[in-house]
Amino acid sequence: MKDIDLVYFSPTGNTRKTLQTIAAGAQTQVIEHDRTYPQGRREKLHFTKDSFVILGCPVYAGRIPQKPENIFEGIEGDDTPVVLVVTYGNREYDDALLELKNLAIENGFIPVAAAAFLAVHSYSDKLAGGRPDENDLKIMGDFGRTIRGNYLRKNDYKGTLIVKGNYPYKDGMNYTPLAPEVSEDCTQCGECVSVCPVAAINPDDPTETDPDLCIRCCACVRICPVEARKFTAPPFLATVQFLEGNFAGIYKKPEIFYITED
Ligand SMILES: Cc1cc2nc3c(=O)[nH]c(=O)nc-3n(C[C@H](O)[C@H](O)[C@H](O)COP(=O)(O)O)c2cc1C
Ligand code: SF4
Ligand code: SF4
Repeated sequence: MKDIDLVYFSPTGNTRKTLQTIAAGAQTQVIEHDRTYPQGRREKLHFTKDSFVILGCPVYAGRIPQKPENIFEGIEGDDTPVVLVVTYGNREYDDALLELKNLAIENGFIPVAAAAFLAVHSYSDKLAGGRPDENDLKIMGDFGRTIRGNYLRKNDYKGTLIVKGNYPYKDGMNYTPLAPEVSEDCTQCGECVSVCPVAAINPDDPTETDPDLCIRCCACVRICPVEARKFTAPPFLATVQFLEGNFAGIYKKPEIFYITED
């Protein structure tokens, strides 16, 4: 029975939780490689034919996150089987799973399964609020059990994995400089500093955030114990309003894809 290596980027924790729940269903030894913070992203990872990897990230504007640039840099497989997972917040995952699959193939992996799971949108609890719910957690666990049954004992993976998505990919995020506003309620506790994946928040004064570095992941907004951090720029608020107007109150189901023999 193979161990599983989890490799993920997950600023607000949804993707990490999803991968951990899948791995728990597979009932094997799990090793985690968290690529969310700069130190983790610098780690070079080399996997062999005998490894088994689950690779995951959130969907950002229908793509895998384009910033920070190095979320999956320096990760190499050697005909290593991989399961690809994206989480998204009730709009769509568009081309993200296809992009993750192609990236994995370019780096020496053999995709054997893939999934898109729903999880609360980083921007608003009205979008996929309460997800993953009990049903999602069960589907994740069952997915893990299927992975164990079908792939963890094998060393020969033949066939093609087809996932949803188009190439050329969507444009992705338009990163005009932007950062959360900080109200006078800030107590300088520093919690936001410790969760920022790109070190955009000044540790000496957390009310200062570098808008050129910020990737709008909302990790700081969600962790702040006094709700002092908020994106207030009109274009951001318009996006949230559009999303809530069009994608709140809809129950989307997780989608899972498996390799099929040619
Ligand atoms: C910058 C940004 C862009 C996003 N774009 C999308 C999107 O295109 N479609 C969607 O359904 N959810 C989108 N989301 C929601 C996230 O994909 C979702 O909340 C995800 O589970 C967050 O993962 P994490 O908790 O692992 O960081 C976006 C979130 C952020 C922060
Ligand atoms: S988490 Fe909130 S209160 Fe704490 S330093 Fe950051 S902004 Fe201030
Ligand atoms: S400052 Fe920007 S990048 Fe850093 S945690 Fe907050 S939203 Fe994310």
